[in-house]
Amino acid sequence: MFSLFRKRKQQAWEPDRLPRHIAIIMDGNGRWAARRALPRTAGHAAGAETFRRVATYCKDIGIEYLTVYAFSTENWNRPDDEIGAIMQLLEKYLHEALGKMERDKVKMKFFGDVTILTPELRKLISDTEELSKKFEGVQVNICLNYGGRDELVRAAENYAKDFAAGVAPQEKLTERAFSRYMYSADIPDPDFIIRPSGEMRLSNFLLWQSAYSELYFTDVLWPDFNERELDRAIIAFQERDRRYGGLKT
Ligand code: IPE
Ligand code: IPE
Ligand code: MG
Repeated sequence: MFSLFRKRKQQAWEPDRLPRHIAIIMDGNGRWAARRALPRTAGHAAGAETFRRVATYCKDIGIEYLTVYAFSTENWNRPDDEIGAIMQLLEKYLHEALGKMERDKVKMKFFGDVTILTPELRKLISDTEELSKKFEGVQVNICLNYGGRDELVRAAENYAKDFAAGVAPQEKLTERAFSRYMYSADIPDPDFIIRPSGEMRLSNFLLWQSAYSELYFTDVLWPDFNERELDRAIIAFQERDRRYGGLKT
């Protein structure tokens, strides 16, 4: 009787101390598929479903920003058929998202160089950004052909151009001013970065923005990640002591 009671009374996160911005490295799709003797693309399809669920849950519980790593600048090193399948899944996802936009009301942005993608994908991306910009509540950023180093080099390039044209800060460049040149210009840094699949690295994700992010690693593979796993992660986040180089408050 006692143990039953204990089981039911699960620890929960505190609603008034949620991370404002959660970022996720959606990793482990290939291994999830391999464990089921399925092709890697089946893992990516399952991963896309997980993204849908997790994004909806973030919106429901009141997370303001969710940034997900969907395809890195290094993922072009994969076989062409896998890259093609990922891009097809993305197209399918964006078609559906556009169809359900007025119901879901999620603001969507893309971080990364999307100019090299197919015209179909580029059109879907610009339509999605344009049509969803009126929504408030949750903003989902999809990192596509994104690399943290690439983002920094572009920021430096664009700053140099603006400087030469006289439209950038002409005195000393500050961290704050340089942040304006990142894809994440208008939003706060991620409070919390989650990486499933057991790897403990950032793999070129949000190098500038992750300076003081809390990191969370779990062995769960991305297609198996769900609302309960996010609850667990948020509880762990709330147990952290964020000091930013100062002393415990
Ligand atoms: C993440 O899953 C998806 C992308 C990188 C596009 P992986 O495809 O990297 O899955 P694993 O790491 O091989 O299991
Ligand atoms: C990171 O996963 C990129 C995405 C999840 C999109 P990878 O599978 O590409 O990372 P590595 O190769 O294990 O570092
Ligand atoms: Mg991987």
